[in-house]
Parts: sequence; C-alpha cells; structure tokens
Amino acid sequence: MKKTDILSLLREADGFVSGQDLSERLQVSRTAVWKKIRQLEQEGYMIEAVRNRGYRLVSSPRDLGAAEVESRLTTKWAGRPVCYLESTPSTNREAKRIGEEGGAHGTLVVADEQTAGRGRRGRDWSSPKGNSIYMTLLLRPKLPPEKISMVTLVMGLAVAAAIRDTCGVEAGIKWPNDIVAEGRKLCGILTEVSAEMTAVSYVVIGVGINVNEESFPESIRDIAGSIRTVTGKKTDRAQLVAACMDRFESRYEAFEVQQDLTPLMEEYNSLLVNRGRRVRVLDQASPFEGTALGINASGELLVEREGGEVTPVYAGEVSVRGQAGYV
Ligand code: BTN
Repeated sequence: MKKTDILSLLREADGFVSGQDLSERLQVSRTAVWKKIRQLEQEGYMIEAVRNRGYRLVSSPRDLGAAEVESRLTTKWAGRPVCYLESTPSTNREAKRIGEEGGAHGTLVVADEQTAGRGRRGRDWSSPKGNSIYMTLLLRPKLPPEKISMVTLVMGLAVAAAIRDTCGVEAGIKWPNDIVAEGRKLCGILTEVSAEMTAVSYVVIGVGINVNEESFPESIRDIAGSIRTVTGKKTDRAQLVAACMDRFESRYEAFEVQQDLTPLMEEYNSLLVNRGRRVRVLDQASPFEGTALGINASGELLVEREGGEVTPVYAGEVSVRGQAGYV
C-alpha cells in the first residue's frame, strides 16, 4: 500500500472515511492505515480524525508533487509513473533522458520550475516556479515517423478538453496545438522524437500551461494569458495534470487503433478557433492567405484560397496567423 492510495480514497470520499473502510479497501490492517495517515500528517497534510467517523482530508501542503498528481490519476497508463521535480532545466530534456534509459510508455515528468524551458522554433519558454504546469509525457508509439506529428494534435485536444472540463474556461485550439482563450495563449506544446528511418523509439510531448499567474513578462504580455487571468480563480495544478492525462489516454487509444485522426476530427474542429476565419499561412517559400476550413484526418489544416482551391497545410512546415494578429 502506498500513501497515495490513502490520499486517493480520502479525496474520493470528499468527507469522512472510516478506518475500517480504508483497511478493507486497501487490504491492510487498521494500524497500517493509521501509520500512513501519521506519515501524511508529518509531510504537512492536515487530516481530521474523529472517533466513529474516521478520517477526512482537510488540506494538502502543496498543489503539485508526485503524490498530489498520482492520487488524482484515473488512467491505466498515462502518467504512470509520475516523476516530479522541484526544478529542472527542461522536462522535455529529462523525459528524453528517461526515454534513452528505457523508461515506460506513459511516464510523466512534471516540474514546478524550468531553468532552460524550450518552446517551438528554438524559442525560450519562460518557466518561473509556483504557478504553471511544465510536464512532458514519454510515449513509445507503434507508428511510422511520418504519423508522429498527429500525436501532438491529440495532446492539444486533450489539454483543451481538460481545461474546459475542470476550469470552466471556453478554451479553443489555434492550429496545430496552441490552446487559447479570449484571444490569448494559455498553453504551448513541444514534441520531440527519437527515431530511426522507419521506426520510432520514443516521443516526448512537452506541455506548458499557464495556470495561476496573474501577470507575464513584458515580452509575452500581449499574447500570453493564464487560466487565472480568464477565470479570476486559482486552479489546483495536480488536478489539471491528472485531467489532462485522463483526456489524453482515451483519445490516444482511439487514434492508435485508427492510425489517424478520424475519430477525433469532429471534436478537434469544433474547438478550432481558426475555423471559418481568414488566416495567413507563413510558408517561407510561398506565403498565402485564405479561409481555414478545419483539419483533415492527417491533422493538416485545410485552407481555402481565393477562387476555391483548397490547400492542405502541414504543421511541420508552416505557421498560421490570424489576419490581425496571433489568433
Ligand atoms: C510553444 O512554443 O508553444 C511550445 C512550448 C512548450 C513548453 C513546454 S513546458 C514543458 C516542456 N519542457 C520544455 O522545455 N518545453 C515544454
């Protein structure tokens, strides 16, 4: 029995659980339960104990940590195990190290701070401690290398769904995988692959979500937003991490069977903020403008040009901007 098992049951109960119940459900003695409760208290959890009623979780010492995430997970494999770090250069870098050492499909690296966080196109990802989610999921997909970019879209969809469900924010997706709300970017995703010519060894999907920050550095102030700037409320980060894993697991399984985005296209397109809007396609060789129609089963954005011609745009090659700005 792990202490996270007790935490899960206390959280699930949302009130008192008797020592008898805990010991039966975990198949350990009541003394063993009591010892774990003591251990949790020593770590800063406040647990009320009342004779004849049992135990009730009053508060947790922090909102992010391995036990916080694990005790909220509802998945079979996504986020198992959780490797939590107070501070790390980059969770993507750490996940790649674990990948090289043979780490399991589903391993999740979570950090409270990154000292060298990386974004797409070689940019930095500002990663101060305390308010954000920095996490990277390690996968060993049974897919040819050319299909890997779709996994990033699956994660984008999962994070958007998790934010909508748990925070009540009307989050949308800016193709291919930025999560936005009220015209501001709440989340970015950076996927990196280790592959031979024909086979993928592992993939790391790095997710940065702005959760509880109230303001941003000057350089990103015009574009960045957080769940807090949208709702005005604080969000439990571990709860959101667990919700992302839950929403990802089911969608990834559907995608893996189909080997393309057919089962997810409808949901993805319904959340696509670019849909029906004029976009500028920043293709280096030949940039053009058109109306975004939605994605196809490969995750390409279909853009209708003047005159009706529809061009599929591949995420690896171009980026898309709204006519007036970021979205
Ligand atoms: C983007 O540029 O939109 C992608 C940002 C990805 C940031 C996340 S934070 C966790 C993981 N670790 C990193 O160094 N980057 C990703």
